[in-house]
Amino acid sequence: MTAGSDWGGGYVTDLEYIEGYYTQQSPSQLVLACTLRGIAADLPGPGEPVRYLELGCGQGIGALVLAAANPAWTVTAVDYNPAHIASARATAAAAGIGNVTFLEADLTTLAGSEAARAIPEADFTSMHGVWTWVSPEVRAGIVRLLAEKVRPGGVVHVSYNALPAWQSAIGMQRLVLEGGRRAARRSEAAVVAGLDLVRELNATGAHYLQTSPLVQQLLTATKDLAPEYLTHEYMNAHWAPAFHADVAAAMSGAKLDWVATAAPLESFPTLMLTEEQRALYERFDDTAMRELVMDTCLHRQFRHDVYVRGAHRLRSGERDERLAAMTLVPVVSPAELDTNLAVPAGTAEIGGGLKTLMAAALEGPTTVGALMARHPGVSNAAELVAVLVGTGQAQVTAGVAAQAPSADRLNRLLGGRVRSLLGPRGAGGLACSLTGAGLLAPKLLQFITARLLAGDREDAAGTWAEALSQGLDETGRQEVPALIARVLEQRVPLLRTLGVVPA
Ligand SMILES: C[S@@+](CC[C@H](N)C(=O)[O-])C[C@H]1O[C@@H](n2cnc3c(N)ncnc32)[C@H](O)[C@@H]1O
Repeated sequence: MTAGSDWGGGYVTDLEYIEGYYTQQSPSQLVLACTLRGIAADLPGPGEPVRYLELGCGQGIGALVLAAANPAWTVTAVDYNPAHIASARATAAAAGIGNVTFLEADLTTLAGSEAARAIPEADFTSMHGVWTWVSPEVRAGIVRLLAEKVRPGGVVHVSYNALPAWQSAIGMQRLVLEGGRRAARRSEAAVVAGLDLVRELNATGAHYLQTSPLVQQLLTATKDLAPEYLTHEYMNAHWAPAFHADVAAAMSGAKLDWVATAAPLESFPTLMLTEEQRALYERFDDTAMRELVMDTCLHRQFRHDVYVRGAHRLRSGERDERLAAMTLVPVVSPAELDTNLAVPAGTAEIGGGLKTLMAAALEGPTTVGALMARHPGVSNAAELVAVLVGTGQAQVTAGVAAQAPSADRLNRLLGGRVRSLLGPRGAGGLACSLTGAGLLAPKLLQFITARLLAGDREDAAGTWAEALSQGLDETGRQEVPALIARVLEQRVPLLRTLGVVPA
């Protein structure tokens, strides 16, 4: 909905989207997904001049984090909302990040234009939360742009609301949109009114709300979500969740082959499916059918798909050679080792050799090959890397780089904006040159990182607690010092090892 203006083509333009950082957008995670499936994609080495393109970048945090962490990269990020582009450019200027260009352009018409010609051919392209929220015309424009700008062998990430998971909540979105539009002009008021209408109808026993577990789950979850998120999720005229096969068919228009999902564990059907389900999955040898079976068995509401323009299969043994050469960088401390694996059937407890290797990996950056050689025969490289990266306990990189001054400047700027532990911002990111990507960071970690970069020492924790308690009730205020102490004990030593905070 485009209250107050009509240039949006049905997409929300009167309220800016939340800031967020998503690890699936980082080249290292995309390359890992390709490698696990035996498809060639090179991990960018430190100092390599990667060209990265983001479409529908919102506030641009992902593009900013990647550009700041990797000064040799050329990052281009596109969005048609001038408020987003202005804010992203202001952040880039304030942090002195010169290797990112924020382009205000409509994806419907960008391909073939003068502005598109100026965009470098991309090694990596990402569009997070765009595909199923925009009109068919925008999607067609995206495919034309991908055909023009993704280099042969380039990797593309696209995330979207998936079917059949969303099928039982399509009616709910329509009610929020239509009911909201009739109740208010501005989208933040409209989405609240629309959701209230759904709640009222739900209370009357409305069949298609009551019988949908997803609707019931969303009605609870939406209570705590920021209007900036809710409007962009529910108030778009053309929102339409999609089947994997239909997205893959559209992407083939840009000669893109589907390779994997960006979630490493999803490349292991043995973990994802029961034995009976796996037998049905394996009955088919084409990926579209296999993914349809998997999407029907799993609760996969949001897919992160990875495509390659001309997927090249690795020869036998090459996949494991590539995995062995990757450096595993722990992003949690050894004390935080988590061996509980959330799988569809419940929680699996990892033990034995794999647990030993996971614990060893958290001791510090090391190549997968070196780790495996220290503990021969106890597990396999693919399983180890997928579990550690898939559970957010490690990242992979091609080599170790020192923290760039631009990464420090961005982390200081973004963390310096944290005024309280309350508020609408999504998951933050800390630029980390050693991993060539971002580290997921809650507000508290961003704040502390910024304070340490500004020269504070850990004994300033009392002052930090005071600053962060704004807007919290008494119970909340009392919890802040313990939260700070935990971050100082568990995360700050790790950030020191990674070079993100000063030694
Ligand atoms: C749900 S937001 C996701 C933003 C960002 N990728 C993120 O995850 O934080 C979708 C974005 O697509 C942008 N968008 C929608 N239609 C567009 C179009 N026709 N051309 C360019 N950008 C568009 C919106 O302005 C918005 O920033």
